[in-house]
Amino acid sequence: MTSTAGSPAQEPEAGIRLEEVGRAFGPTVAVSGVSLTMPLHGHLSIIGPSGCGKSTLLNIISGLDDPDEGTVEVLGATTPDDRLRRCAWMPQRDLLLPWRDVLGNAALALENQGMHRKAARSQVTGLVKRFGLSSFERKLPHQLSGGMRQRVSFLRTLVAGKEVLLLDEPFGALDSITRADLQFWLRSALLEEPRTTVLVTHDVEEALLLGDEVVVMSARPGRVAARYATSFPAGASRRELLRLAEFTELRDELLARLEEAS
Ligand SMILES: Nc1ncnc2c1ncn2[C@@H]1O[C@H](COP(=O)(O)OP(=O)(O)O)[C@@H](O)[C@H]1O
Ligand SMILES: [Mg+2]
Repeated sequence: MTSTAGSPAQEPEAGIRLEEVGRAFGPTVAVSGVSLTMPLHGHLSIIGPSGCGKSTLLNIISGLDDPDEGTVEVLGATTPDDRLRRCAWMPQRDLLLPWRDVLGNAALALENQGMHRKAARSQVTGLVKRFGLSSFERKLPHQLSGGMRQRVSFLRTLVAGKEVLLLDEPFGALDSITRADLQFWLRSALLEEPRTTVLVTHDVEEALLLGDEVVVMSARPGRVAARYATSFPAGASRRELLRLAEFTELRDELLARLEEAS
């Protein structure tokens, strides 16, 4: 590769690159030798048995944690602080501020970016409606169901406008209908507005609906056990996708892999 003085060599920009990443907590080796590369605007789903280090990997990508071994790069950023700046992270448990209402929580990221409170609240109002929370705008988190809180938390993650979305079992607490709706909504949103996304889930169908690649991790210490590319018709409805032979075949294959890995 050649490069002229003062300008770096032009390499195709990777969205996220992990090389030989390892992380232990005392005697517990959470992940070991994880290498993963995904392109800019790629959508990666990670499935694996409980405790295999999926959340640990997301924390490492986000910059909230750093590996003991190996290297991490997120849109060219390698230090934890620089990674944090590029990532919006949605945790398993919602971390809503109990004293802020739905609009206030949803608008938080915009306010943190310096937007005036009123403008921020009005900007998120449309999204709040789209998430089926219109009559709950002024409710406090303790007045909402678990699923609603998770929707607000998800909304807040989207509103942050970061290039990388890290979703840790974001729909786990939702009832199956809301879950199906939001999965499909997110699928369309990601097709419309490209973002680099890593989704951790234990739901194989969700992994397939939302990922253009699916990684299966082995039981602890978590390693990459298998990786599959998906390509389903973008315009298909959820019902059509779930009946597609390629979809059901891959779903069965992933379920078998997951069973082997557990
Ligand atoms: N901060 C921590 N301190 C001690 N052990 C941890 C910590 N975070 C994760 N672990 C351990 O590392 C392993 C992987 O955890 P985690 O990444 O949460 O798994 P998963 O998200 O796949 O269920 C588990 O055994 C867990 O108990
Ligand atoms: Mg987890």
